[in-house]
Amino acid sequence: MPNELAETLAEYEGQKGALIPILQKVQEKLGYLPQEAISEVAKFCRMSESEIFGVASFYAQFYLTRRGKHSVKVCLGTACPVRGGERILDHVEKELGIEPGQTTENYQFSLERVACFGACALAPVMVVNKNVHGRMTTAKAKDILAKHR
Ligand code: FES
Repeated sequence: MPNELAETLAEYEGQKGALIPILQKVQEKLGYLPQEAISEVAKFCRMSESEIFGVASFYAQFYLTRRGKHSVKVCLGTACPVRGGERILDHVEKELGIEPGQTTENYQFSLERVACFGACALAPVMVVNKNVHGRMTTAKAKDILAKHR
């Protein structure tokens, strides 16, 4: 991994203060921010590992543990629960055998609960990777998950 990361970090030579973009780029490459990556970034930015860790754990966009290949997000904002969002989440939890914040043992799926995707007109909404699926039903959710197994 260090070589892989060296290339990524080299793009930020001269902008070592750009910690958030650096972490975003590293996460884009590795899928999450493992301890080794935090150490590399700390050396590169001449900061302590605990400072980098502090920043990474503050922002919800950063993951410190390995994620599943597919990200599944179920909306429980205001509109979605009214239209059955809870039922969708329950169903997805059962299908995958995990709760929000967890990843399946085979690292195929990670599940999250989100507060609103800004697509309330399509409620209830589920987003798999970057695809927004609206007017979700338990049957539709099951089909979508099956396609990603
Ligand atoms: S509440 Fe679900 S998209 Fe807005």
